[in-house]
Amino acid sequence: MRAGRASRTAQFVAAARGLGLLLPDDVRIADDPYGVAFSSPGLARLIERGQRPEGRTFATMPGPRTWIVYMQVRTRLLDDAVRAFTAAGGRQVVLLGAGYDCRALRLRELVGSAVFEVDHPATQGHKRGVLARIHAESPAKYVTWDFEARPMAELPEALAAAGHDAGAPTLTIWEGVTMYLTEGAIDASLRAIRAWSAPRSQLAMTYFAKKRLDQPSLATRAVAAVVARLGEPWKWGWIPDELPAYLRTRGFELVRDVSAVEAAHELLPADLASAIRAADSRVAIAVQRQ
Ligand SMILES: C[S@@+](CC[C@H](N)C(=O)[O-])C[C@H]1O[C@@H](n2cnc3c(N)ncnc32)[C@H](O)[C@@H]1O
Repeated sequence: MRAGRASRTAQFVAAARGLGLLLPDDVRIADDPYGVAFSSPGLARLIERGQRPEGRTFATMPGPRTWIVYMQVRTRLLDDAVRAFTAAGGRQVVLLGAGYDCRALRLRELVGSAVFEVDHPATQGHKRGVLARIHAESPAKYVTWDFEARPMAELPEALAAAGHDAGAPTLTIWEGVTMYLTEGAIDASLRAIRAWSAPRSQLAMTYFAKKRLDQPSLATRAVAAVVARLGEPWKWGWIPDELPAYLRTRGFELVRDVSAVEAAHELLPADLASAIRAADSRVAIAVQRQ
C-alpha cells in the first residue's frame, strides 16, 4: 500500500459489491447497499439509474459484468460462512484487512455479535469518514494495524484491548488480503490468527492459486499491472494441493477450498456464472485444530 493513502483496491471491490444492485433481483445473491458510497458519485448515480432499464446495461458489459459477478460469488460464500458460524452459536468475527466490508452493518445474523475490524490506519480512517458522512453507525470495533510494519504477534493483545475474548470461538475473515502480503506477513498473520482462535474457531479466506501469479493470462496481466500501479502489487499465492499441510502446521484444518468458477456454477444460472473464468481465485474455509 502507498504510505498514508487509503487502499484503492478496497475501493474497487466495495464498488463492485455495490454495483451488484444493478443485477436483476432473481439472480442477485448478495447485497451491499454501502459499497458504492466508497467509490465515486458517478457510480452512485449509475446505481440510481439501475432502477431503470438503461442503468442495467452497464452490468451486462463484459468487463463490469465479470467483476460484479465475481464479487457476488465471493461475497455470498463468505456471508454464508458468517451465517453458518452464528447459527452454530459463534458470536465473534474478526475482519482482517476489513477495507470497506460493511458486514457489521448489513448482515442481520451479526446482530448481538462482536465484530472487530482490523486494517491499515489510512483505509480505516477513510472508511470511518465515509460512514459518518452517510450517517451509518457501524457497531464494529476498530483496531488499526499495518501488517507489514507492526509485529503481528502483538495483534491478539490489541484485539483483547478492544474487547475480543480469546477464550470464545472467533470467525476470522481474511478476504482479498493474502495476495497483497509478503510470505513473512502471511506466516506471521496465520500464527496471530491461531493465537486468538479458541476451539471451534474458523478462518475463511480468499486466495490466489500460485499459478495465477506464475503463469498469468492476458486478462490477469492487465489487472496485475493496474493494482501494481496503484501501489498494491500482488505478491502471494498458494499451490492449492499444498494448502492443507501449510494450514495444518499453523493450527488449522482445511474443510473447504473452492474456486470462484465452481462456486459460481453452484450459485448462479449458467449464463451469469459463465461471466467468470477465475479458476485461480479461490475461497478456503478452515477450522481451528485442537
Ligand atoms: C482488496 S482490499 C480488501 C478489503 C476487504 N477485505 C474486502 O474484501 O472488501 C485489501 C485490504 O487489505 C488492507 N491491507 C493491505 N496491506 C495492508 C497492510 N500492510 N496492513 C494493513 N492492511 C493492509 C487494505 O487496507 C485493504 O483494506
